[in-house]
This record gives sequence, C-alpha cells and structure tokens, in this order.
Amino acid sequence: MTNINLSQPTITLRQPDDMHLHLRDGDVMRSVLPASTRVFRRAVIMPNLAPPITTIDQAKAYKKSILSEITKDINFLPLVTAYLTDDISSDELKKGFEEQVFFAAKLYPANATTNSSSGVRDIRNLYSVFEMMEQIGLPLLIHGEVTDSDVDIFDREAVFIEKYLQPLLKDFPLLKVVLEHITTQNAVQFVESSEYNLGATITPHHLHINRNAMFHGGFRSDFYCLPVAKREQHRVSLRRAATSGKSCFFLGTDSAPHLRDAKESACGCAGIFNAFNAIESYAQVFEEENALEKLEAFASEFGARFYGLPLNNDFITLEKRRCKVPDRIPLVGSFSEKEFIVPFHAGEYLNWSLVNTQT
Ligand code: DOR
Ligand code: ZN
Repeated sequence: MTNINLSQPTITLRQPDDMHLHLRDGDVMRSVLPASTRVFRRAVIMPNLAPPITTIDQAKAYKKSILSEITKDINFLPLVTAYLTDDISSDELKKGFEEQVFFAAKLYPANATTNSSSGVRDIRNLYSVFEMMEQIGLPLLIHGEVTDSDVDIFDREAVFIEKYLQPLLKDFPLLKVVLEHITTQNAVQFVESSEYNLGATITPHHLHINRNAMFHGGFRSDFYCLPVAKREQHRVSLRRAATSGKSCFFLGTDSAPHLRDAKESACGCAGIFNAFNAIESYAQVFEEENALEKLEAFASEFGARFYGLPLNNDFITLEKRRCKVPDRIPLVGSFSEKEFIVPFHAGEYLNWSLVNTQT
C-alpha cells in the first residue's frame, strides 16, 4: 500500500521496476545508468543496440557490461531481452530463456524506430517462434506500429492492433504479450478489454505531452519519440488508464537517450531521455489525477505480477519538494564538452523529489 503522509507530504512506496528501458552501451550507458539505478530495482532492457542482441553470448556480455558499471552498494538487476529478426533461431531463444539469459523477446517491425532495420519484415515468418514462446512462457514485447507509408503516422498504432495484434492473440491465446509504450485510446480500450494474457507499459512522456509539444513555436525534437505523441484525447485516456488501478497497465519509461546532435540532425532520432526524473514525473501525473494512492501498484506491483517476478523488498520515499530539472545532462567518458543529453522536463519544475532508499 502506498503510504501517504499529508501533514508533511511524502509518499513511500515499494521500490519500483522499469519495465521498458533503453540503456545503450559504452559511454552513453555509463552516463545514463545512475539515473535508473538511483530508483529502480529492476529494468527490462531493450535490445536495439547496433548490432542488436540476438544471441545468448551477446546478451550475457551486455548484462555483464551493465553490471560492471554498478557499484556494490546498489541493487539493480538488468533483465536483458532478445531482438527478434525474421530468421532468429528458435533454439537459441529457447535455450537463452531456459538459462535465464533472455527475459523476454522484443518485436520491432522493420524500420519502425531507432535501430530497427534488422527487425521483423513479416510477422508470419515468426509463427513457429511464437508457438515455442507460448509453450515455454517466454514473453513477447511488441513495438506496435505498422510502417506502411500510406498509413498516417498518427494511426500506426491503431492499425497495428487491428491488423496484427488481434490475430496474433487469437492464434496464440496463451502467449504472454506486452504492448509497449501505448499512445492511443484505441490501445487502452483494446488492452483493458482483452481476454488474453496482454499487458501494456505507459511512459511518463505520453502522460504529459500531446502532439502539440513537438511543434510549439517551432519544431521541438526533444519531444519526438516513437510512437509519436497523439491528440489530447489520447493523452487523457492514457492518464485514466495509468491511474485506473487496472493491473494490465504498468510502468515502463521507454527512456531513450540520444545525444543532442543526433536529435537535431537532418534526420533527428526518436527518443526521450526521461530516466533522470521518471518516478517524479509519474508522481506528478498521479497527483494531478488525485490518484497518488494508485502509484505504487502501477510502478511496483502490476509489472512484477504480470511477469511473475517477486515484489521488491525495499522502499523509496518521495517528498513534496519542488525541484528544477537541469537543461542538460553531462556525459562521462569520451565526449567533447559540446555533447550532452537533454532530459525530459528540462528547465521545468517538478513537484516531487526522491528522498532515499530504505531497507
Ligand atoms: O522513441 C523511441 N526511441 N522509440 C523507440 O521505439 C525506440 C527508442 C530508441 O531506441 O531510441
Ligand atoms: Zn523503447
């Protein structure tokens, strides 16, 4: 139960998990990792590196490299995922899951987003893989957007649900599926009324911004992510879903760091780095929706339960203290002084601040 102290406003909640996180590798990973480990106990780590994580050896090496950056006083478990390709080896996936190397498998439709060019061109090519996944309980995580050029970018999630997700769930009724970073009312309604083993993650940014944010006074690449933010009615629907207390909706930040230059280039990268203040950002939404008592279940229980993980034993406390978000995050390692990452909410104030981690 969320413990809310109203005289001196604090909220204490079970330590949360981030069920969708991009950490990258090398010096970018080194730079952004502390933002996640300061608050989350576990994170489902996305495999869209270059090259993508498709083998057990790669996954083991990636996990090791993440853990090697974490000091002993911090408890953080990266749950590494496999990247599905048209010709991924079913045996490798199965073995990786059985050896607890792969936590889940991620489906990116080819060219749907950052580093997805090796993604899946035809979902039907994977039907024997899904059969195996259903049998052994390996969860399928989906970037749910079609890529057809004749489908409007704002409709890509809704079309994916109708054209691919619905049939997939019918064909594999026992498969555990997460529709990641949902952005539409269509997705909310589909997930909450589903009779299948279907969950959805919701990001902080899709709870805060609608599509106007990308065009406010000029083009704002800081708010460009995929799936793109949609109309206000969809944001409202996502806020209702996140704060509804329905266990099919849980926390997944989709924090996706890109250097400033990469976001502002001729072909700017999609992704918002929100890990720097993710839990504070979610807390603000839950407060605005008068639903702070629902934050803990969304952040710390529903995701773990969906995946069959034990709940975390530690607790975190947030206090109601306004805090200004910096304009940029400095990087560690081999970067020039001109390189930096802009965090979500840069330059704004957030109402809640993290106090400590208790045991
Ligand atoms: O905005 C996004 N950024 N969406 C994704 O699906 C991928 C991510 C990234 O890796 O940068
Ligand atoms: Zn993602």
